Amino acid sequence: MATSSPEKNGKAYEYVDHAYDVVVVGAGGAGLRATLGMAEQGFKTACITKVFPTRSHTVAAQGGIAASLQNMTPDSWQWHLYDTVKGSDWLGDVDAMQYMVMEAPKAVYELEHYGVPFSRNEEGKIYQRPFGGHMQNFGDGPPVQRTCAAADRTGHAILHTLYGQSLRNNAEFFIEFFALDLIMSDDGVCTGVVAWNLDDGTIHRFSAKMVVLATGGYGRTYFSATSAHTCTGDGAGMIARAGLPLQDMEFVQFHPTGIYGAGCLITEGARGEGGYLTNSEGERFMERYAPSAKDLASRDVVSRCMTMEIREGRGVGKNRDHIFLHLDHLDPAILAERLPGISESAKIFAGVDVTREPIPVLPTVHYNMGGIPTNYWGEVLNADSENPERVAPGLMAVGEAGCASVHGANRLGSNSLIDLVVFGRAAAIRAGQVIDRESPIPALNTAACDKIMERFDRIRHADGSKPTAVLRDKMQRAMQEDAAVFRTQETLEQGCQRISAIWGELPDVKVTDRSMIWNSDLVETLELHNLMACAITTVYGAEARKESRGAHAREDYAEGPFAGRDDENWRKHTLSWVSEAGEVKLDYRPVHQDLIADGIDIKKIAPKARVY
Ligand code: FUM
Repeated sequence: MATSSPEKNGKAYEYVDHAYDVVVVGAGGAGLRATLGMAEQGFKTACITKVFPTRSHTVAAQGGIAASLQNMTPDSWQWHLYDTVKGSDWLGDVDAMQYMVMEAPKAVYELEHYGVPFSRNEEGKIYQRPFGGHMQNFGDGPPVQRTCAAADRTGHAILHTLYGQSLRNNAEFFIEFFALDLIMSDDGVCTGVVAWNLDDGTIHRFSAKMVVLATGGYGRTYFSATSAHTCTGDGAGMIARAGLPLQDMEFVQFHPTGIYGAGCLITEGARGEGGYLTNSEGERFMERYAPSAKDLASRDVVSRCMTMEIREGRGVGKNRDHIFLHLDHLDPAILAERLPGISESAKIFAGVDVTREPIPVLPTVHYNMGGIPTNYWGEVLNADSENPERVAPGLMAVGEAGCASVHGANRLGSNSLIDLVVFGRAAAIRAGQVIDRESPIPALNTAACDKIMERFDRIRHADGSKPTAVLRDKMQRAMQEDAAVFRTQETLEQGCQRISAIWGELPDVKVTDRSMIWNSDLVETLELHNLMACAITTVYGAEARKESRGAHAREDYAEGPFAGRDDENWRKHTLSWVSEAGEVKLDYRPVHQDLIADGIDIKKIAPKARVY
C-alpha cells in the first residue's frame, strides 16, 4: 500500500495500486458480458462496481431481449433491422444496427448455453412475446413475437448467469467501489481509472491497457424515472471531465407505463400479452392514433398519445392526470405464469389486484438513447465534425452508457438487453484484436492521479450552504418540467437557464460527512456532479435541435410530411462537451448510412414518414 497526501486535513490517503489488462467499470448486463468475454480470452480482467453485481440496474429489466429466433412467428434479421431503423426515427447508425440484429440470435443462444433460464414455448424452445414497434413484413404487420423472455424477470436471469460465468472464468470483482475518474495520459490515451473503496475508505489506482465503461444511464437527472437511484451517469461524467464528447444526450425515452406516483416499471410485455390502455371515457384510444400497431406502437408514440389524452381532459383519476392499463381481461393463469413480477409490483405500489382492476400508469423516464459515442466495436470516439470517427485509445463504452448508436432517437423495447450483450461481447472481441498481449501494462500516471484526488478532496471537504439533496431536487424538477415528453423553444431555453444556474451553485455545495467509509453524502455529491454533466448536455443539445425526432418531440416543429422531422438539416448526431465552468460546446457528426453486409436492399430502410 502506497500513501500520498493531497488531503486537506493532513492525513494521507491510502493508495492500493493494481495492474490489469482490462478494467471494466460497471457490472450490469453489458459490463458483465464484456468482463466475461475478456476473461474467457485469458485477459487479466477486473470489474469495478458501485453496487453488488446482481443489484445492477439490469436486474430490473422485465419484458425480454429481442432476437429473430422465429420460435413463435416468422421473423428475420431484415425485419428486425427495419423495425430498429424506423424506431430510431432514422437517427441510428445503420452499421451498428445491422451488426446488432445479425448477431442477436447468436448472442441469445450463448446466453441460453451459459445457463439463462428462459421461459419455454410448447416445443421447449425459448418463449418469445410481442413488444412495441416489432412487426412482421417490414412494418406491415402483424406484430412479431421476437422478445425472448424469462417470465417478466429477464434482466434478473441474465445478470445472475453472467456474474456466475464471470467468476468461473476468474474475473476479479471490486465490489462497492466508486469510480472517480479516468487516468488519461498527456496525449489522450486512457491508461486506467481511480476508484474509492466505500467499505474501507482506501483509494485504488488501476492501470490497464483497456478501460471499458459500462456504467449505465442517467435517468436520475429526472424527478420520476424507472431507473434505479444508482443510474447517475457516472461514465458520462468521467468522459466529460476527460474533455471527451458525449453524443445525442437530448434523446431521453419515456416508458408509457410507469406506475402512477411510484414510477416503477410495468413491462411493455404486459401489452405484449394482450393488455391495453384506456382513457376516462373507457376508450382504447391507441386505436385512433396507431390503427395498425395500436397499444404496441413504439414507446415514444404511445407516451405522446397518453400525454395528449391527459392534456385534452381525458385522463383518469381524481385529477384526471393518468391513464389505465388493463390486464383484468387476461387469464389469471397466464398472468401468474408470464407476468408474476408486475402483478406483485402493481399490488405493492398501486394497491391493485391486476386480475380485477386496471393499473394507474403514466409515461416515466426510462432510458437514455444518448451517451458516450462509440463505433460498433465499442471503441470510444474522440469525435468532432472534422474527425467524426477518431478513436480514443485505451477506452471503450458499452450498454446504456455508450451510444453506438443503435437506438438513434428512440429505442424499441427489448432492444436494450440485446444491445447490452451484443456490444459487451463485441468489445471483448475487439479487445482481443487490439490489445497487445506482449506489451507491459502502462505505468501509473501519478500526476494525473494526484489531480483526480485533489478534486475528490475538494468535494469531500465542500463547506458551502447548499445540501446535495437540495441541488439534486432542483435539477430533477427542472429536467422534468422543461425537457419532458413534449418540448418547445420556450421550455428548453428555460431548462438551459435553470440547469446553468444550478451548475453555478455546485461550488456552494455542502457535504456534512467527511469520513471515508460508507460516506453516502459524499457518494451522492459525486453522483450529482456526474448527473449535472448529463443534464446540461441534454438541455443544451435539445434546445439546439430545431426539429422533432423520436423522443425529442418539439411542439414548435411538428408540421410537414414527417411531423417535424427534418432529415435535410438534422439527420446528424449531436456532440457535446461541458467545461468545468459549465460552458457547453456543441458540434455534429454524420449518421452512418451504409450497410456492413448483404442481405437487404438499402432502399428498404430509406427514411419515410413514421406511422404505426
Ligand atoms: O417494458 C419493458 O419490459 C422494458 C423493456 C426495455 O426497456 O427494453
